[in-house]
Amino acid sequence: MPDSKPDAIDLRSDTVTRPTGAMWEAMRGAELGDDVLGDEPSVLRLQQRVASELGKDEACFFPSGTMANQSAILATTQPGDEVICHPTAHIYHYESGAPAALSGVTLRFADGERGMYEPDALSACVRPVNHHFAPARLAIIENTSNGGGGSVWPIELVERVAARAREHGLKTHLDGARLWNASVASGVPLKDFAQHFDTVSVCFSKGLGAPVGSAVAGDTQTMARVYRIRKMFGGAMRQSGLLAAACTFAMDHHIDRLADDHANAKHLAESLAPFEPLTIDAASIETNIAFFRVDPGWGPASKLVDMLEAQGVRTIASAPDQIRVVTHLDVSRPMIDRAIEIVAGVCARKTEQETA
Ligand SMILES: Cc1ncc(COP(=O)(O)O)c(C=O)c1O
Repeated sequence: MPDSKPDAIDLRSDTVTRPTGAMWEAMRGAELGDDVLGDEPSVLRLQQRVASELGKDEACFFPSGTMANQSAILATTQPGDEVICHPTAHIYHYESGAPAALSGVTLRFADGERGMYEPDALSACVRPVNHHFAPARLAIIENTSNGGGGSVWPIELVERVAARAREHGLKTHLDGARLWNASVASGVPLKDFAQHFDTVSVCFSKGLGAPVGSAVAGDTQTMARVYRIRKMFGGAMRQSGLLAAACTFAMDHHIDRLADDHANAKHLAESLAPFEPLTIDAASIETNIAFFRVDPGWGPASKLVDMLEAQGVRTIASAPDQIRVVTHLDVSRPMIDRAIEIVAGVCARKTEQETA
């Protein structure tokens, strides 16, 4: 099966990648069974590998990161509990109110720079034991932080926050949709991050370039609940070895190359920083996500997105005055250089019009 890469330079997300020819071949050659009946060899092998790389007893394959996160939340809370996360957390912003709808929990926000928070911010969210208050039950961190601009939680901060969470008697969940990015950027092994959490979710469909697939890992007792919840949510699949084969291929071939995506994001940010109406702190780019501020005096970010789209560069207006670009497997360095030319051209043209 040939590669079917689109022509546009699509920087909206690292989720837009298409399977490579070699990944299609791996999918075609997958040994299949029925995962709901428990005999899907490709899924079982992937789950064992993920559990082992995260240093957990078991892992469970999921169709999406959202279902993975929400299953972990339901498995570790009771209705009426409070869950603590950063205000930019994906589980809050982009999962459609699921913590309230599916687990009946309230959210409380521990704030901090670039999607991260300190132990004291966590403690400030934990209210005294009193029948007026929702009991804090679960602390969540996201590594890398999507809303924080792809920031990597330093391992020492993870250790301190997780230790504080345990002091408060909280469970901990790591939204590791981009944990491989964090690991490649920091040199910290996956296991070292994961050991501090009761449950960890990872996604194969972000930087790793698989079309579909996520996983939750944890201890045997918690995972028994996670397996049941996956079934309840409709996430148990049949010949899902097709997908597991793509995910396994992605783990075999697409982890080390994440460093290229990180270098490309930094190169984009450094090259475009001098252009009006964009502002970015290029030094803060650690992985594959970059947020550019668009001067509101120039116009809304959505206008810039439309102008770039018309020239074949796809981005997202992540706020009225902000665009987000994400680098990934399907954008090479020459494509990044072309995108820089196009963005600079659009910005330069605007300046020329203004001064004309
Ligand atoms: C940090 C984070 N967590 C979870 C998800 C959810 O993944 P999915 O789109 O597979 O549901 C995303 C999606 O981009 C994400 O960025």
